[in-house]
Amino acid sequence: MTQTQITTSQGTNQQSGETSKFIGLETQGVHAWFGKHHALSNVSLRFPERTVTGLIGPSGCGKSTFIRLLNRMHEFIPSAAMAGSVLLNGSDIYAPEEDPAMIRLKVGMVFQKPNPFPAMTIRENVLAGIRLAHLKRSNHDEIVEQCLTRAGLWKEVKDRLQASGGSLSGGQQQRLCIARSLAVEPQVLLMDEPCSALDPGSTLRIEETIKELAEKITVIIVTHNMQQASRVSDYCAFFLTDGGPGYLVEADATRKMFTNPTDSRTADYVQGKFG
Ligand SMILES: Nc1ncnc2c1ncn2[C@@H]1O[C@H](COP(=O)(O)OP(=O)(O)O)[C@@H](O)[C@H]1O
Ligand SMILES: [Mg+2]
Repeated sequence: MTQTQITTSQGTNQQSGETSKFIGLETQGVHAWFGKHHALSNVSLRFPERTVTGLIGPSGCGKSTFIRLLNRMHEFIPSAAMAGSVLLNGSDIYAPEEDPAMIRLKVGMVFQKPNPFPAMTIRENVLAGIRLAHLKRSNHDEIVEQCLTRAGLWKEVKDRLQASGGSLSGGQQQRLCIARSLAVEPQVLLMDEPCSALDPGSTLRIEETIKELAEKITVIIVTHNMQQASRVSDYCAFFLTDGGPGYLVEADATRKMFTNPTDSRTADYVQGKFG
């Protein structure tokens, strides 16, 4: 992939002269606050469709805050405020007519700690998002198989779909959560340190899953594991804080970030010299 991720100006359609919309997810000058605390400053980033971007940087630099802005979860936090724009395929997800619940169907999220519904069956867990959003789907069996397959879990659970979600191992539970997210057909999947509670084997399994997912959707993953970032992502974005609000240092193709970054702080961080 040769496209550079950070672009401040919109692309132009040469033939018509019209501004062409960027396909994927894009932030333009986003800021976040918690009360008076300015947590994140002026982040402009592009996430092209069907790519994986790793968000890296030391704790407290605003990575989780940033991804919560991408599916309108930030606004759930009391006292939280934001500025700037987030565009999905050129449409502002914060436009007044947008329903946050609908945005969260388009931009799904997987958390650090696997959070399946433990008493629900594996099958019901996969279908839970569809039921909660009252989406009309007739082919439930097909959806269950398809989503579990894409999440890399089907072979392990196909003979026990009626077992409880809580009966699975941690790594399996996280893949079940991925399957549950996929069932509502998101265009973007956000993952906030999805492997940090998992063993190395489960971690590799999830990384394979992420690469397969990116054939169809856009994945944005926060990780503290530099090997993981280099294995799984096409692009990386490096965040930092100097005591004030978190900010973006640079973003580029992962190979460049790991071999020849523009900023010496990026080189030091990816080499494990701090953080
Ligand atoms: N719910 C919250 N209420 C108040 N401050 C918060 C909240 N969540 C995060 N912050 C603050 O925002 C900053 C960025 O935090 P966070 O986004 O969690 O960073 P990271 O995910 O990179 O570790 C930190 O200063 C943190 O204390
Ligand atoms: Mg975090």
